[in-house]
Amino acid sequence: MTHPFVAPIQGKVTPFTRAGTLARYLSFARCFAMAAAIACLAPAALHARITPAELHAAATPTSDPTWWKHAVIYEIYPRSFQDSNGDGIGDLDGIRERLTYLQRLGVDALWIAPLYPSPQVDFGYDVSNYTAVDPQYGTLADFDQLLATAKQHQIRIVLDMVLNHTSDMHAWFLESAGSRSNPKADWYCWSDGKPGTGPNEHMGPHGLVVPPNNWISLFGGSAWEWSPARQQFYYHKFYKQQPDLNWRNPAVEQAMFNVMRFWLDRGVAGFRLDAVPTLLEDVQLRDEPVAAPGRNAQGDPLLSDIYTNMLPEVHDVLRRLRVMVDGYPGDRVLIGETYLPNTAALEPWYGGASHDELQLPMDTLVGFHTEGGTINGPNVSLNLPHLRQTLTEMQTELGSNWPLLVFDNHDNPRSWDRFGDGVHDAERARIIATILLTSRATALMYYGEELGMTTHTPARVEDVRDPIGITGWPKEKGRDGVRTPMQWTSGPQAGFSTDPQTWLPVGSDYETINVATETADPRSLLQWHERLIELRRSNGTLRNGGTVMLDPTNPSVLSYLRTAPADSKPIFIALNITARPQRLRVDLKPTGIHTTAIRTLLTDADSLASATSLAEITLPPYASFVAEVQQQSRPAPAGVRGGDR
Ligand code: BGC
Repeated sequence: MTHPFVAPIQGKVTPFTRAGTLARYLSFARCFAMAAAIACLAPAALHARITPAELHAAATPTSDPTWWKHAVIYEIYPRSFQDSNGDGIGDLDGIRERLTYLQRLGVDALWIAPLYPSPQVDFGYDVSNYTAVDPQYGTLADFDQLLATAKQHQIRIVLDMVLNHTSDMHAWFLESAGSRSNPKADWYCWSDGKPGTGPNEHMGPHGLVVPPNNWISLFGGSAWEWSPARQQFYYHKFYKQQPDLNWRNPAVEQAMFNVMRFWLDRGVAGFRLDAVPTLLEDVQLRDEPVAAPGRNAQGDPLLSDIYTNMLPEVHDVLRRLRVMVDGYPGDRVLIGETYLPNTAALEPWYGGASHDELQLPMDTLVGFHTEGGTINGPNVSLNLPHLRQTLTEMQTELGSNWPLLVFDNHDNPRSWDRFGDGVHDAERARIIATILLTSRATALMYYGEELGMTTHTPARVEDVRDPIGITGWPKEKGRDGVRTPMQWTSGPQAGFSTDPQTWLPVGSDYETINVATETADPRSLLQWHERLIELRRSNGTLRNGGTVMLDPTNPSVLSYLRTAPADSKPIFIALNITARPQRLRVDLKPTGIHTTAIRTLLTDADSLASATSLAEITLPPYASFVAEVQQQSRPAPAGVRGGDR
């Protein structure tokens, strides 16, 4: 498969996975290998050494004003999480029914993918009314109840806000498209086109015209669609049913800010801003230069999207948005969908040293990456130099801003498949979870990631629901495979719905990969996540400590130290990224620590459960190891990043 979601990246176009990945993971061979890997684990292979006081702290909700820095944010795709009314589609009451599970897992906030009324061309990312709930998912009253019940579970709710575009069925667009002179005539990006003939030619008021430039949609084809009523083209970065709003019009900004106020007034904790770098386009409508020879999966040229992505004016909008959101009490948060070419490029999205834009633009460099960043390039999988480099950059290139780490979402193949090798998938998934949850970063998870849910791409084009999979078949099979129903039990429809016709089929591995089975299995990936989150919540160093990468030339083991704030002890993390045992002799003196004494906090290696010294340890293949160093840390030497700021 070629990757369905091509990220908007200035200067180049980068997909995030490799051809053929999904077919590989659909095979019985892979399922067999995974089951064997789980069965081969030694009994009681996971060890958590957490004191009763730490456990108590973990269970106590925090009123931390910067709650989002320490949070585990859990993305829910509402169609796929839990169906409460038996129609085969998930809904808000379904999410409410599962809050106990989410609280037990240790989730601090939910990011719910768009729940607004929508024709569902892009499954909610085509919004036709921003101040209501799609009847498929429930009502506003259901939303209020979800919010209130979530609060009782100490869980905040972050909504997905689609600012860049609306549905073509939104009343604003219908009005705008009706004539050239209506009050909303300038709410979208309209162009007469230019005189000419060609594949996208239309008869305009003064003769044949073609689109004004070569801009392409991320979902394939020209980004310009003809409107017969206006005899003009409108611009759409995504599907043609998703016309781009004209953010140069202050009335548009006002209207969208009002929409956000509507939800902030109800009590949401903030927004994940969809496709935010693409809000504005070049006013001169200049052609974008070709970035590289060849074509993408949709058959379009590879353009450098310098005139449709990351325009400087977007930052003006974000600064005004931040002022508006900061006017609300309760530490609301702005998260950005920011696929960027390198880590340093993230800093401006925070507002640099002024911290006056997004609190949490997503760092997608660590978790979603293809080799060389090339179109259809092979997925990097568990690549130690890449992980070490990007994790280091995350701590050194964002100024004093706070990173947001993510390995899974609704647009990319599941991390289990991207990071697995078909043999050590479970171990590799634990390594990813350990990085996600022990790093100095907010952690963003996607439903089912905690279980090791896998990607189930449709085998036949007639089963595809995601339009890019329909138009792009067979090169582009769409994103359905990562949106299959949450796997709760080994019963019918995996406990997701009572309707056998679920909107997408339940993943074929649900009998072993599900919440009920994994809750009963101390060796499961679910329990691994629970323990890591518990540790992350209760441990002062993991919450507030700095980070020092250790042993930077080791080709096999990723190790780092979370340096301790006052009255805490440093935490040592080591991950064996190879299929061979790796011996380590760890010297922490350069970090100001003069002991090798440790206490194991969490490991999946029996042999390390009672480790007491770093003087010499052996990590079994793909082992994860988290230990507390038995010494208060001294002040960090120059160049070592400090703690929470
Ligand atoms: C969302 C996609 C969506 C696109 C258009 C993305 O960034 O994550 O799922 O298709 O925006 O709204």
